[in-house]
Amino acid sequence: MSGGRLQGEIALVTGAAGGLGSAVVRRYLAEGARVVATDLRPGPLDELAASLDFPAELVTVPGDASDWETAKETVAAAHRHFGQVGVYTSCVGVYDHNVRFTDLPGDQLGDALLECWRINVGSVLVTLRAVLDDLTATRGRAVLTGSYAAHAPGGGGVLYTSSKHALLGVVKQLAHELAPQVRVNAVSPGVLPTVMTGLGTLGQEPRDAVLPGTEQALPLRRIPTGDELAGLYVTLASAADTAAVTGTVLIADSGLLTRGFGGPPGGEEL
Ligand SMILES: NC(=O)c1ccc[n+]([C@@H]2O[C@H](COP(=O)([O-])OP(=O)(O)OC[C@H]3O[C@@H](n4cnc5c(N)ncnc54)[C@H](O)[C@@H]3O)[C@@H](O)[C@H]2O)c1
Repeated sequence: MSGGRLQGEIALVTGAAGGLGSAVVRRYLAEGARVVATDLRPGPLDELAASLDFPAELVTVPGDASDWETAKETVAAAHRHFGQVGVYTSCVGVYDHNVRFTDLPGDQLGDALLECWRINVGSVLVTLRAVLDDLTATRGRAVLTGSYAAHAPGGGGVLYTSSKHALLGVVKQLAHELAPQVRVNAVSPGVLPTVMTGLGTLGQEPRDAVLPGTEQALPLRRIPTGDELAGLYVTLASAADTAAVTGTVLIADSGLLTRGFGGPPGGEEL
């Protein structure tokens, strides 16, 4: 495609086979980027590649984004096929399926916390560290994924909520440290119609992220698709459109954070 907002860019996307990640990959390609996509699950990654209109512009690397060797291999694949990376996007995530603190077995708590933080925070940092020389050389952009749970309680259990709050710390600290060469921002979705992986240490199976009644609880009464959020990633990934933006989170939570305890004045009760 010519004339896209990411024309000529080389992007590295982690969590690329997921509901949100695959939508971001498609949109980056449609906007003219070449993409190196990585995910823990090789099957869905292959399915994504097979379904694309621009297959020559995509390279896939299966693996664990929190593993240093995988992260280095992903960057090396970008160099072999395309060149230096200018955009790094993380859509990796694991959910704790809203497990209450009182229901967390004490003897599994430490391992569950480590799993959740290794994936939701560790993978972001490890891959960013591996691609940092490229981002520095290209005046690159990191676009990470927060959550409603990065801003408020009730979007997950304490393991997930604490990991997503930590993600905000990553955005702020690294936007501070890496300026002026690299911009660091994030998108915080509220809820998406995806099936999220649970914590293996707690024996959790993948489950729908959308619970019954969720749509009615959202002020905008709208659960967006990944495609509807992908443009926000493009905006933050664009060299031109957000040149003065770093350390920022675009909140795409269908208004959930605006609601507070009550409904709108004179409006319906919750
Ligand atoms: N689904 C929602 O309602 C929702 C809401 C707010 C935020 N989010 C966030 O959006 C992001 C994407 O979630 P999603 O809804 O697309 O879920 P998803 O489960 O479809 O996608 C997550 C992807 O990350 C991959 N992954 C997990 N661990 C990995 C690792 N160690 N290395 C490489 N890949 C790994 C999974 O294989 C999966 O493809 C996550 O950060 C999630 O926390 C989701």
